[in-house]
Amino acid sequence: MNASDVQTPSFLVSPLAPGFGALVAATALSGLPEPAEIMALTSQYGTLLLRGFPFDFDAFVAFTDRCCSSFSKYVGGGIRFRALNRDSMGAEGTVMTTTGSTQAFPIPLHGEMYYQKIRPDVLWFFCQRAPAEHGQTTLADGRLIFEQFSAETKNILRSRRLCYIRQLAPDDWATSFMTEDVGELKRICDENELRLEMRPDRSVRIEYVAPAVYATDDHREAFINSSILLWEFERALLSGAAVQVLGASAPDRPPLVVRWEDGSEISEPLMREVEAAAEPFTVRVNWQPGDLVLVDNRKIMHGRRKTVGNDRQILVRLGNLS
Ligand SMILES: [Fe+2]
Repeated sequence: MNASDVQTPSFLVSPLAPGFGALVAATALSGLPEPAEIMALTSQYGTLLLRGFPFDFDAFVAFTDRCCSSFSKYVGGGIRFRALNRDSMGAEGTVMTTTGSTQAFPIPLHGEMYYQKIRPDVLWFFCQRAPAEHGQTTLADGRLIFEQFSAETKNILRSRRLCYIRQLAPDDWATSFMTEDVGELKRICDENELRLEMRPDRSVRIEYVAPAVYATDDHREAFINSSILLWEFERALLSGAAVQVLGASAPDRPPLVVRWEDGSEISEPLMREVEAAAEPFTVRVNWQPGDLVLVDNRKIMHGRRKTVGNDRQILVRLGNLS
């Protein structure tokens, strides 16, 4: 459903882009919106940009606390590597920086934490400091992307599952899973349905098999997963392009890769078809200070454009609804 202009006493709702999401703009007299109203709009539109409300850090934390039952500390986060890691910014580690203190690289569209079973229902992004230029967050509806594929591609994506594979040295799994205890690592892997192989040198191989396409609550199919991001990240590392941007922060080899369930690589033509289908439906959010973006991680993918300079400060919370 598109957001047609709806006037309420405290905010105005209009489409974020044609046929996509909603911009919830405060009216001159607005205080903060009611959490229940915002969550109802989220289930209706999938993603919201809240603009013009008096959010600061404390108000952001208090408001999101009222909307979600719990928050992730990013345990098992797939790309937690040196300058690519997230920093904790408060609220017992549930408010984090977005991926990377270095932001001079784009992040392709992805669903958050689709490489494990336990992943957030919704994502909250809060703009403390907007970039002077570039650095837009990107958003795209996985349902619309799936509709663009050829019948043959739809069949491939419905019938074949993905396999996310991590190969991590001891320090790296300790960072990702936030524990140095092997027993705790096993427990986390079990609850996430991750297949864990521990090697004599304490390095690990961890696999997760999952669909590329998910049924949504409105009985549609959404292309939402982490394949584009990981496919592009692996190529950037192997080609040397990542080292040019990340320098010493670039891992020697990809810490997390995506394959088909049988171990074969996803072909370049297929991935290019996916990217081409997504491009016309990708919406860019030009951040303003105090903006809050809410994303339904069960159907909407997100990413980031390359940032110029170091003045971008976007905080994130990964929320659960039940
Ligand atoms: Fe993300």
